[in-house]
Amino acid sequence: MDNPLLLIEQENGIYILTINRPEALNALNKGVFDALEAFFREHSGNYDVKGVIITGAGTKSFVAGADIKEFSALDTAGGSALSKRGQDVFFMIERFHAPVIAAVNGFALGGGCELAMSCHIRVAGTHARFGQPEVNLGLVPGYGGSQRLIQLIGKGKATEMLLTADMILADEALRLGLVTHVVESGQEVAKATEILQKIATKGPLAVQQTIQLINAYFDKTVDGFKKEYEDFGLTIGSEDSKEGAAAFIEKRKAEFKAR
Ligand code: CAA
Repeated sequence: MDNPLLLIEQENGIYILTINRPEALNALNKGVFDALEAFFREHSGNYDVKGVIITGAGTKSFVAGADIKEFSALDTAGGSALSKRGQDVFFMIERFHAPVIAAVNGFALGGGCELAMSCHIRVAGTHARFGQPEVNLGLVPGYGGSQRLIQLIGKGKATEMLLTADMILADEALRLGLVTHVVESGQEVAKATEILQKIATKGPLAVQQTIQLINAYFDKTVDGFKKEYEDFGLTIGSEDSKEGAAAFIEKRKAEFKAR
């Protein structure tokens, strides 16, 4: 169903989700979370979905954070519930079977930086800015930022960003490994599409299991090496792997079927 808060376009299995609250710099309110959750729930495990791009409406902001105007009524229990709900939706993104790329076209602050970090890959425009400014509001991050920022850029710089609330520019985000590409402003979605088109030619089950293996590295309850040999067995037993090997030997393009 059409939702004005989250615009959805699709071409050849690549979906572009545009968070559409430019008047609030695309801040994440309940309605945006509901729409994101509905999309990722509905499409989970659907191999016709080859990849997803998340971006923000307008040219100024990707997402400027959680919607601060929803905070005033919250007590401790309400705040924890809001944070847990946000984390759960972002886990759905991180665990999605197909790659999700954040096309960061401006401010990625607080919940916006956290949303980008829950995506598998991040591409930024030259004018993008990243930060976790929650301490300015007397808060800690609520949607996984205290954990994923350390995962992505290391404890030293993450600690400085989390404690000072300083924003970093796209070039520094590239240097730190927070993003993997910086492109001319306005070209973020095009670059993300190019990456997803490449991944779409690969074995879908292998892509899915690779995403799971990367996530396993950061999951203290999972033995990643054990999961790797299990997933190697799973993928080598698949029809797609036989097709991949046959295509290599016959010097042709593989026709994967997600089986
Ligand atoms: N929530 C709600 N509204 C927001 C918002 C947010 N996070 N960020 C911006 N807006 C709104 C502003 O209130 C303003 O609306 P009005 O015109 O109705 O006043 C509109 O968007 C435009 O913003 P500004 O006038 O402030 O634009 P600017 O260019 O002067 O500044 C900015 C841009 C530096 C990004 C500034 O808007 C800003 O600092 N925003 C807040 C960033 C922030 O603190 N994010 C973290 C939120 S907390 C969080 O995310 C917690 C968590 O982890 C769960």
